[in-house]
Amino acid sequence: MDLPKVHSITKKIMVALVGGFLLLFLLFHMTANLFILRHDGGAWYSAFCHFMGTNWVVKVFEVVLIGAIVLHVMLTLWLVVTNRLARPVRYHEAQKSKTHTTSKLMMWTGILIFVCLIMHFYDFYFVKMGWVKGEYMVKTEKLQSEEVLGLVQFAQQTGMSPEELVDNMEAEAMMYSEEDGEEEEVAEYIGRMRDQLAVIDIVRRAQEEGNISEDGLWIKHLTYDERQTLRKVIPESKPEPDFYYMAREKFTHWHIVLGYLFFFFVIFMHLRHAFPSAFQTLGLNNYKYNNAIEVLGRIYTWFVVLGFAAVPVLVFLGL
Ligand code: HEM
Repeated sequence: MDLPKVHSITKKIMVALVGGFLLLFLLFHMTANLFILRHDGGAWYSAFCHFMGTNWVVKVFEVVLIGAIVLHVMLTLWLVVTNRLARPVRYHEAQKSKTHTTSKLMMWTGILIFVCLIMHFYDFYFVKMGWVKGEYMVKTEKLQSEEVLGLVQFAQQTGMSPEELVDNMEAEAMMYSEEDGEEEEVAEYIGRMRDQLAVIDIVRRAQEEGNISEDGLWIKHLTYDERQTLRKVIPESKPEPDFYYMAREKFTHWHIVLGYLFFFFVIFMHLRHAFPSAFQTLGLNNYKYNNAIEVLGRIYTWFVVLGFAAVPVLVFLGL
């Protein structure tokens, strides 16, 4: 199969541009993660994740970002394959140049980052997509639907619990529906009421177990099944993953912390070369600025990697 012919420098420029975008994303992601270090029960981080999960501009950005990662990987693989095809016979003597070694390293660190990223998605992003189970939370106000409030008020007026009320309604309705031949409608109505009971039960459990956030805005520690119930009964309630709790919980396990530190080390290796290399490919380097770019690259890499590492390490240390 023939690969489309695109000049290798064009591919390199595309890799650099997409890579530059990813460098900006990393800085942003690292800064946002620092909110996890606040001991505020997740107030700031949850508010941030809620904004990120509900704002449509961010949703478009997310698609662009995932596209950029895939494009970055595909372009680099394409570069490697076309370079190999251009020289099917390997050099007799293995190259020992510095450039050759770093770019080989870039390939391997790139692959490792991709693998770590899939594991990272398994921890968080796939939970948001609903492909992996996690811990969820929902805005308290979203559960105050008219049907739920009506049921609770009616139960209070009759002096019964909501469950007793629905049992009574069912028994009575069944008696009359047999006469009217409306069993199906009644069964559907009672089914809906029972769904509302499940919501009341979720709120009750949250109150009993103190799972309401300090500011009263969120009901926390919902299970996957509870999330499913809420999505069915009150679709507009949109339960969200509790990333603050999930991150803090994960980083209490030493093997997860070590795994993440390995991830950051590989990113460090990749970025050390990626930063100046992007400038070079885009022709933005110049002998006058080379030193400045090198220093900026070092500062960026250390800043981002240490910022990422601070979260698992400090959480693990209980700080
Ligand atoms: C302490 C380290 C990290 C933590 C706690 C963390 C946490 C998270 C969380 C909670 C999400 C889901 C956010 C959402 O979808 O709303 C996420 C998504 C993501 N993370 Fe990380 N992350 C860390 C490190 C990294 C690193 C080092 C990279 C890159 C190499 C990375 C790349 C991504 C990407 C690409 C997404 C999906 C896009 C997005 O949702 O914005 N993360 N991360």
